[in-house]
Amino acid sequence: MKKIIIALDGPAGSGKSSSAKIASEKLGYIYIDTGAMYRAVTHSWLQMGLPLEDKYAEEVIAKTKVELKVTENGQRTFVNDIDVSEEIRTAEVTTAVSPVSAMGYVREKMVDQQREMGNQGGVIMDGRDIGTVVFPNADLKIFFVADPEVRAKRRQLELTAKGEKVTVEEIKQQIIARDKYDSEREISPLKQADDALLIDNTYMSLEEQADKIVKLTQKIIS
Ligand code: CDP
Ligand code: CDP
Repeated sequence: MKKIIIALDGPAGSGKSSSAKIASEKLGYIYIDTGAMYRAVTHSWLQMGLPLEDKYAEEVIAKTKVELKVTENGQRTFVNDIDVSEEIRTAEVTTAVSPVSAMGYVREKMVDQQREMGNQGGVIMDGRDIGTVVFPNADLKIFFVADPEVRAKRRQLELTAKGEKVTVEEIKQQIIARDKYDSEREISPLKQADDALLIDNTYMSLEEQADKIVKLTQKIIS
């Protein structure tokens, strides 16, 4: 059976990674979280104590080996063979990730790696520029959106479970600011590809969202 490339894009908290994880298991596909890759570079950058300026990008990238590996604890993110899956989700990294991701050199290197990981097909890749830049010929492209208030509430649930205290309003302002930064950057901004299917999942459960990916895929491969 044909193994296709599925590109999922959309703003923060629109359910891309969680639905991709479920759909990839159902389809037997590889899931690639490109946001985790940008977060890993950002984490490494902060660890090195360097200012977030373009001129350091080459040095940081040269010293940062990013890998996504499937382990007995699910998919994990590694930097130089160290599991940084928890560290890349801190507020510090979340604040710094958009400026780092806006840098041309960083994007060039990450996109090369992403294309290498996905070009055989049988892959679901999620991010901001997958359908527009990384795989413009992807067989299925979905652009997920959801109401910012709902996205903030979803994120708050996650953070509360981790013991972090933040209000929905604070999270909402942060995701709106990050989406704006990501949408307005010069290189590969967050944008719906012309041929991507727009799906609003404000009122969809995670399972329904994942099912939608699976059904659309089955329609293409059958
Ligand atoms: O999960 P969440 O929506 O918080 O974000 P993420 O998918 O982990 O992505 C973190 C950040 O990485 C985004 O806000 C973008 O700045 C950047 N990113 C990107 O520029 N291009 C991608 N393909 C994926 C993420
Ligand atoms: O990857 P992205 O930033 O687009 O979003 P996510 O990390 O997959 O989803 C953010 C949170 O929303 C997770 O806790 C999901 O379980 C939850 N979610 C939900 O409650 N309903 C949906 N339809 C999609 C996601």
